[in-house]
This record gives sequence, structure tokens and C-alpha cells, in this order.
Amino acid sequence: MAVLSTIRSLFSSAIPIENETIVPAPLTSYAVKPLTEKHAKEVLKLNLRCFRNGENYTKHTFNYLFTEPNILSYQAIAEDGQMAGFVFVILNKDGTAHLTTIGVAPEHRRRGVAGSMLGHVEAALIVKGISTIVLEVRVQNVTAQTLYTRFGYSTVKRITKYYADGEDCYLMVKSLV
Ligand SMILES: CC(C)(COP(=O)(O)OP(=O)(O)OC[C@H]1O[C@@H](n2cnc3c(N)ncnc32)[C@H](O)[C@@H]1OP(=O)(O)O)[C@@H](O)C(=O)NCCC(=O)NCCS
Repeated sequence: MAVLSTIRSLFSSAIPIENETIVPAPLTSYAVKPLTEKHAKEVLKLNLRCFRNGENYTKHTFNYLFTEPNILSYQAIAEDGQMAGFVFVILNKDGTAHLTTIGVAPEHRRRGVAGSMLGHVEAALIVKGISTIVLEVRVQNVTAQTLYTRFGYSTVKRITKYYADGEDCYLMVKSLV
């Protein structure tokens, strides 16, 4: 879990950004592709739009994630080339994986983008022989909990004051076998 604790130490507190008016994007298809260091600026910007109230991944967090060898990262790209979503997963030495973050641009939400990235991640993990994927989610983030439950994750425990602002999390797990 050294990777995870390093990531947590690189969080910054919530960065206030201006409220934006969300206009749904034109209908488009999405392709899930690897996310690499050359997309660092774009993913940082999208991350700030996705996570307004909690710990934000900073430039340093992403730099760290992009240079760690045991990390899978994908982006969902709309037909116009815009990054619509991102996901990062840590591969642990014990044969499990840890979904550290997933976000979808507000104008592309509720179109199956997160589901499609989760499906992509799972297929890649199965090829690598990973049997279990775990994640933490804020107790107040019912949207994300609904997504994970819909994709077969179960809540196994509540961890008190997991986040820096004192909010608890649910630990959710999915078996890939
Ligand atoms: C959570 C998040 C990634 C979902 O992305 P998305 O692309 O809109 O999700 P999908 O369209 O793939 O949704 C799949 C299913 O998840 C559930 N779901 C997703 N958004 C939901 C919402 N706002 N309300 C209720 N259920 C929702 C539904 O079951 C949905 O299936 P349905 O549309 O057929 O009903 C996105 O809302 C987001 O980026 N939120 C901010 C960042 C965040 O909280 N990340 C998770 C951190 S743990």
C-alpha cells in the first residue's frame, strides 16, 4: 500500500473553481485508450472539474502516477478528441488491484462512459491474472456508489475519517474470478 499512501500524501485540499454551466455534449461515441504522461495537463484539468469538494489530485499526484510502473490508466475520448473521462488503477503485489480515481466530464455523464472504462479496466486486470479489485468511496457520494453497485462491487466495510476532511468512506470490493 506504499503507492496509495504516497498518493494520499500528494493530495491538496479542495481547490475552489468557478461554478460552470453544464451544457450536455453533442451525442458522440467514445473510445477507451491508454492515458499517458502526454495527457497530464488535460487530465489535471478534467480532474479539477470532477472533484470539487474533496481531495484533488495535483500535478504532482499525476506525475507520480504516470511514473509508477504498476499503474493502469485509461481515458475515454469523444469523437472530437476531447477527453471525456479518466481512470487510474494500482496493481498490488498480492494479486489485487486498487481503483484510485475515476471521473467523467459533467457534459458527458450518464452515457455509459464510466461503465465502459470500468469494463476496460476489468478486462485488462483479468488478462494480468488479477482476482480482486477494491476501492474507497465517500459515504456521501451516492452517485459513485450506485455506479459501483451496478457493476458488481459490494460494500465490505465503513472506514471512519478516511478522508482529510473527516468524511468516512466505504470500502467496496469486486471479485474478477
Ligand atoms: C461517478 C461518475 C464517474 C459516473 O460517470 P458516468 O459516466 O456518468 O456513469 P455511467 O453513465 O457509466 O453510469 C453507469 C450507471 O451508474 C449509475 N449512475 C451513474 N450516475 C448516476 C447518477 N447521477 N445517479 C444515479 N445513478 C447513477 C447508474 O446505475 C448508471 O446506469 P444507468 O445510466 O443505466 O442508470 C461521474 O458521475 C463522476 O465523474 N462523478 C464525479 C467524480 C466521482 O465522484 N468519482 C468517483 C469517486 S469514488
